[in-house]
Amino acid sequence: MTDPQPAPRSPGAADATPAVPGDPLRGRFAGGVHPALDVINRSLPDDRRLWDEDITGSMAHARMLGATGILPADAVERILEGLARVREEFAAGTFVEQPSDEDIHMAVERRLVELIGPDGKRLHAARSRNDQVATDLALHLGRASGALRARVVAVQRALLDLVRRDGDAVLPYYTHLQRAQPILLGHALLAYVELLGQDHRGLEVDLRECPLGAGAGTGTSFPIDREMTARELGFERPAPNSIAAVSSRRDATMFAAAIAACATTLSRLGGELVLWTSREFGFARLGDAVSTGSSIMPQKRNPDGAELLRAQAARVNAAVHRLLELPRGLALGYHKDLQEDKAALFEAEDTLARMCDVAEAMLRDVVFDRDRMRAAVDDPSGFLLATELADWLVRRGVPFREAHEAVGAIVSLAEGRGVGLSDLSLDELRAVHEAFDGGVAEVLTVEGALAARTAVGGTSPENVARELARWESRLASGT
Ligand code: ARG
Repeated sequence: MTDPQPAPRSPGAADATPAVPGDPLRGRFAGGVHPALDVINRSLPDDRRLWDEDITGSMAHARMLGATGILPADAVERILEGLARVREEFAAGTFVEQPSDEDIHMAVERRLVELIGPDGKRLHAARSRNDQVATDLALHLGRASGALRARVVAVQRALLDLVRRDGDAVLPYYTHLQRAQPILLGHALLAYVELLGQDHRGLEVDLRECPLGAGAGTGTSFPIDREMTARELGFERPAPNSIAAVSSRRDATMFAAAIAACATTLSRLGGELVLWTSREFGFARLGDAVSTGSSIMPQKRNPDGAELLRAQAARVNAAVHRLLELPRGLALGYHKDLQEDKAALFEAEDTLARMCDVAEAMLRDVVFDRDRMRAAVDDPSGFLLATELADWLVRRGVPFREAHEAVGAIVSLAEGRGVGLSDLSLDELRAVHEAFDGGVAEVLTVEGALAARTAVGGTSPENVARELARWESRLASGT
């Protein structure tokens, strides 16, 4: 059988792709890179946001080249001036990218050469894009950390404002999504403040080891001063192993994981708002600007923002997974695989930033239905004070397990009769456990149950007030 059609010829197999003017990486090749390869090889769309870090790193490198005598002082002077101009162009939005700009490092260098001439071509001595990109990324993590933590604080502030406004409202605390015990709304909202505080701490980044000077991964034969560049860029010290320095994406991965932890907290907040704004709960109502409509049901008032908070944590989690996967099984050294780190990391960062903005907007435009919350607490069929009853027995000397069993029997009795705990007579209680006496009535109040929870971390009004004050002063002092 003969093949009716000739096998398709790979485009570019015989015809060299025309060289891109100004591409400095292709001296050993005939022609330019195949357009299909160029699309995935080019990282500028992903890494252009590193322009400022790249210029900062290049300036430190240039100064060091001057200080060590590797480059003459006048060349360094021109390089620094040129880099400052490149920075101005990026800052003003006038930087023009060229087809030969494979990534941000090549783009900055290409423009530098255009602006200052041949001295610009001296800058890349004693470094490689491998240590350069690792340095840029580390500097970026420090900046992104500050920016994201500020956004997390904004969400915390919105929560604290709600605590101040409605923190004394009472609602059921749920476990397994079953009504469990009464709490103050302030205690629930402060729980999110606390969780976000943990996330905030997780997002801290220490610039420890500076990769710059690791070169392609073996160091350099030039007499560079890595202490100088490390110090100037704000690191504690130079990375001690050049191969590890260019091979690792650990810090970026762990930062993304911290972002994921924070996104998970916001996801839970979103899920909570979805429940609270449902007709079934009816605890909260989102303002018009943070509610959405339906294309068919005119009455709908959908909490899309809260749902998307819930859902978008998945994007961040996926980004962490992508980052974890990149170096898995890779031999030591730089591999182009690692270039994929930035798209994943930036997706995680951007998603969290958007999530924080949406969470803050919703929290600033939510109204609580204090009566609905209270009614859910007072609903006698919830038996939210059963634990108070058991604790009362314990204070009368009854072992907790025995008290638990007795109150279980009392709940079953009340449930069978369709009444609440306080509807049972003292005789009925005493029939279950003889330790009951007339004093029991006083613990069967919601206010009593709340006020009693004064142990550290409990939902008593005084604890909630103290925690509100503590968080307010903590956020005011930025600690
Ligand atoms: N764009 C590259 C990256 O993001 C920079 C490093 C390129 N190094 C190399 N040897 N091709 O990873």
